[in-house]
Amino acid sequence: MSETLENLSSETRKFPPPEALAAEANVTADAYAQADADRLAFWAVQAERLSWAKKWDQVLDWTNPPFAKWFLGGELNIAYNCVDRHVEAGIGDRVAIHWEGEPGDTRTITYAELLKLVSQAANTLTELGVGAGDRVAIYLPMIPEAAVAMLACARIGATHSVVFGGFSVDALATRIQDADAKLVITADGGYRRGKPSALKPTVDEAVAQCPSIEHVLVVRRTGQDVVWGEKDLWWHETVEQASPEHTAQPFDSEHPLFILYTSGTTGKPKGILHTTGGYLTQSSYTHWSVFDLKPETDVYWCTADIGWVTGHSYIVYGPLSNGATQVMYEGTPDTPDRGRFWQLVDKYKVSILYTAPTLIRTMMKWGDDIPAGYDLSSLRVLGSVGEPINPEAWMWYRENIGHNRTPIVDTWWQTETGSMMISPLPGVTATKPGSAMTPLPGVTADVVDDQARSVPDGGGGFLVLREPWPSMLRTIWGDDKRFIDTYWSRFGAGAGQGDDWIYFAGDGAKRDEDGALWLLGRVDDVMLISGHNISTTEVESALVSHPSVAESAVVGATDATTGQAIVAFVIPRGNVDTSGDKGEQLNVDLRNHVAKVLGPIAKPRQIMLVAELPKTRSGKIMRRLLKDVAENRSLGDVTTLQDSAVMDLIAEGMKSAKSED
Ligand code: WT7
Repeated sequence: MSETLENLSSETRKFPPPEALAAEANVTADAYAQADADRLAFWAVQAERLSWAKKWDQVLDWTNPPFAKWFLGGELNIAYNCVDRHVEAGIGDRVAIHWEGEPGDTRTITYAELLKLVSQAANTLTELGVGAGDRVAIYLPMIPEAAVAMLACARIGATHSVVFGGFSVDALATRIQDADAKLVITADGGYRRGKPSALKPTVDEAVAQCPSIEHVLVVRRTGQDVVWGEKDLWWHETVEQASPEHTAQPFDSEHPLFILYTSGTTGKPKGILHTTGGYLTQSSYTHWSVFDLKPETDVYWCTADIGWVTGHSYIVYGPLSNGATQVMYEGTPDTPDRGRFWQLVDKYKVSILYTAPTLIRTMMKWGDDIPAGYDLSSLRVLGSVGEPINPEAWMWYRENIGHNRTPIVDTWWQTETGSMMISPLPGVTATKPGSAMTPLPGVTADVVDDQARSVPDGGGGFLVLREPWPSMLRTIWGDDKRFIDTYWSRFGAGAGQGDDWIYFAGDGAKRDEDGALWLLGRVDDVMLISGHNISTTEVESALVSHPSVAESAVVGATDATTGQAIVAFVIPRGNVDTSGDKGEQLNVDLRNHVAKVLGPIAKPRQIMLVAELPKTRSGKIMRRLLKDVAENRSLGDVTTLQDSAVMDLIAEGMKSAKSED
């Protein structure tokens, strides 16, 4: 991207907070004023939400940028904050986790029971020789033991590295090696799409390449056969037999809490390091403020996997530090049928739902009649995270899931930011469909040109963070130089421009005439069409605004005349007939529709109707692969679903892209 991004789309719909919610909201507009007046004092107030064994001496040390220290001199125990203190406060009988297995088996875990489990696991880890500062790899399905294992590590000061249960031997082994982990916590398997799916064989193969591993602790979930090695120990023969008494020791505010690997698009995975006091302060505060959590009455459900940062901050640390009651679900949204999510919302009377655009668009594709079959009246706040949410997907979510009553919070953040950074507050913000709106109180985000100058309202450019924030990553594990190069060297002091350190992690954005922020995807994906920088997100959203489209992915393919040309892959909605001439006609209509919505410059050269889009394990579209498909000359002028050559190429690319990351 040479200069700034074009701002092509405009959105006039606006939804103020429901009056009743605003009247009782946890946070009012005052929070912005307080944070603006004194950002560090604001974060100090939020840190008081936690229970500190020793209070900090200094809120922020930024004397050695970009290495931040938050709440210097403070000491606390994360597990104590997430579990013990709730039991001490007399709410031990409150349900912490309503767990639902994919086959329909259930477990209900109160805070008092969680304390027992976490204490037993902490005692077992200690007995196995794991101590403060050691690394533990966690490779588990979505079962309560995943949260217990994380909290047990936090309790004894061991640093966990959760690896998504769908990752391969290679991905697991390289992560274990990079962190030099001592212990792996895993399971025989988990349930996926109605069948037990094994985990242990992957661990066995990985551990064979990882001499640092001393023990493998195995939860029995499916009962399937496992090969037993000399490092292996059953969870039920160790943890469940251990003493339930354990006194948590406080750790320094900057003690390492976890490493989480992000793959990005190139290079070896980066071990993002998060620490203790600042991380818990911001994940706790944002979970309470952005969802307007009322821990006594709300039932919260985040559909993410614990293997992603969303699961860390908004299944484990945020909700549990707030004493929330939550639903945790093991399986897929279409098992046993496509109504499973809505059946669970109904069953547990979920009031706050946090999910991803990829899921919302899948539900759109499956059709409105599925959620319409369920009573969703318990819902009062809806959240979205992971990708830009197209305005029409946002509207679909609002109408079909929120029944036009519930606010939607579109939350922008990253593995690196640790917690939410840009989001509406449900009792304060009048939201616009598709916009994450404004930085949260205490966060300083900006949209800048290539000289780090703020773009005027109505302009587009690079999304940056101008000031450190409590839950920011502290470094890349073992590689300070890569940390500086990756995040701090594009703008500001790290780029030799001025004295301020400016964080940039790759997203484009625009700020509209009202100052609201719109995320436009990764700047690497920006298309250069006849000298104009056009974001893939805007063209995708224009396509999704056509009533026949459920989902789309847009890439810039090399073009002899225009430099790059726009090629779009489109999944039609479930009820749309694309046979024969109808497919051709839809194709013409869609190209014209985009030209009408965004202007002729954004008219796609070509549209391919497809059944599926290639996605990473965390649900992000693999645009690089689509670009290869779009530039593949042998394809000629394929346009419709019947041309399975496109799907074949996508499938082939998925295989060779080693899609585990
Ligand atoms: C990237 C970070 C944050 C937890 C899950 C993803 C994209 C995330 C949004 C949003 C537009 C979003 C960005 C970001 N992203 N949330 N609300 N609107 N884009 O964590 O895997 O580290 O990915 O996801 O591109 O940089 P992650």
